[in-house]
Amino acid sequence: MSRIAVIYHSETGNTRRMAELILDGARSIEGTEAEMFSVEDLDSDYIDSADAVILGCPTYEGSLSWQMKRFLDSPGVKLAGKLGAAFASQNWPGGGGADFTEMTLIAGMLVHGMLIYSGGITQGEPYLHFGAVSARSPEGIYAQRCLKLGQNIASKAREIFGE
Ligand SMILES: Cc1cc2nc3c(=O)[nH]c(=O)nc-3n(C[C@H](O)[C@H](O)[C@H](O)COP(=O)(O)O)c2cc1C
Repeated sequence: MSRIAVIYHSETGNTRRMAELILDGARSIEGTEAEMFSVEDLDSDYIDSADAVILGCPTYEGSLSWQMKRFLDSPGVKLAGKLGAAFASQNWPGGGGADFTEMTLIAGMLVHGMLIYSGGITQGEPYLHFGAVSARSPEGIYAQRCLKLGQNIASKAREIFGE
């Protein structure tokens, strides 16, 4: 059984909804246990024992929210050696900054010694790039990408860490 933790920051619910969809995607892969946690209310025992940690937050001023930056600066949970992935919400598609938010999340995860993955364009449609991005509440293609990210990370966690 591989274990996935989705950690999110959300004020108005859009990123939280993305986290729920990523969780659904991860749980659809056999042999996967997955839970989600607000960045302000973490279960460190669960996260310490997870094989993969997926981080997501809203875009604030073209980058990650300060609440998620605070977590990355002082996670208080074990991240090293785990599989990592990113997702981000924004208000303005095509320029709101969510890609940059994801890359900043990825940079932080790399510094913490994580192994970063999204599946990219190798796992069929809907294609992912740096992770899953949504404009406002995830619907349609944005929702499908969240489900896909959860599936891709759960499948890769089983491949790397065993069943
Ligand atoms: C302080 C602040 C800064 C924001 N900056 C941006 C931004 O640079 N680009 C953008 O597209 N949306 C921006 N937004 C909008 C949020 O990223 C967007 O509404 C997001 O979906 C909120 O996620 P949540 O519902 O999980 O809190 C900003 C919102 C706030 C509160």
